[in-house]
Amino acid sequence: MENLILQSLNRIFMKLFALKKVLFRTAGMAIVFTVLVFPQINAQDLDVPYVSTPQSVVEKMLEVTDTGPGDYVIDLGCGDGRIVISAAQRGAYGHGVDLDPERLREARSNARGSNVSDKVMFLQEDLFKTDFSRANVITMYLLSSVNLKLRPRLLDKLEPGTRVVSHDFDMGEWTPDKHLQVDNANISLGGWQIDNPIAEDTHDIYYWIIPAKVGGQWEWETNGKNFTMTVEQKFQEIYPQISTGNATLNVKKTLLKGERISITAANPFNGNEYVYNGRVEGSRIMGTVQIRGDNNTIETWTAKLMK
Ligand SMILES: C[S@@+](CC[C@H](N)C(=O)[O-])C[C@H]1O[C@@H](n2cnc3c(N)ncnc32)[C@H](O)[C@@H]1O
Repeated sequence: MENLILQSLNRIFMKLFALKKVLFRTAGMAIVFTVLVFPQINAQDLDVPYVSTPQSVVEKMLEVTDTGPGDYVIDLGCGDGRIVISAAQRGAYGHGVDLDPERLREARSNARGSNVSDKVMFLQEDLFKTDFSRANVITMYLLSSVNLKLRPRLLDKLEPGTRVVSHDFDMGEWTPDKHLQVDNANISLGGWQIDNPIAEDTHDIYYWIIPAKVGGQWEWETNGKNFTMTVEQKFQEIYPQISTGNATLNVKKTLLKGERISITAANPFNGNEYVYNGRVEGSRIMGTVQIRGDNNTIETWTAKLMK
């Protein structure tokens, strides 16, 4: 029970920290930090205190990312390893990184106890320095400020389509592809499931898919006509401008989901509608275009990034 209270206080501390409230502004919070949180932080300079994700929230994080066989999961700041271990129990492989040796010992022992040592590893590495580019699922329970610092590397180093999930903390103006809330109604205490004595224990889960990079100017030809597309990109949101001859198409719908791109646009002069669907492969897009007009046809769509 004492442990549960500590965890809850630590979580409140994390939330307050994230809200940029000055921790030591109130004597009460100073006591919480000095008496309850500080002793749990080891000698290393941790960027985030240790608070574990409740198991029901772990399961939801793995459900929303559809984690299973064929996936490689990396938990940045893995604590006792529960996220990577639960992922392995669903058939995935993975590893966790943490700076705290005590957490790593716990994680390895938990992996042995759960019979998944052959699928997981736990490494003493700094989450800001570790190479996470091999993962196709990234899990995090950090702080908004830490997420924001990690954000450029996540977007740059991870393959398009990689799933990223964060417990309780978002990524600023990078809006999540999904946002869920989970009520932690039950807690596990000494192997027993009991009602959670904390009245309001709602956890946020934020989920993103790493978008391909599509900003720039693209060109292609369809049925002897040249098309030019200039794309402005803000994370997974795209704002394309497409023109052919003298016509600028009216863009009606867009979607960028990992490496998949789709755009529906209409020619205001002849009413033809173009439904583009393709896959971004570096500086090329390969796909199809449905042309809806007097004659409905399907053509290949091969676009090249010019600049
Ligand atoms: C809030 S806990 C999350 C633990 C686990 N991921 C979970 O959800 O149950 C954050 C963890 O990050 C670790 N940590 C803090 N700063 C770190 C850093 N710079 N590099 C690696 N781990 C770090 C802490 O030791 C702690 O175990």
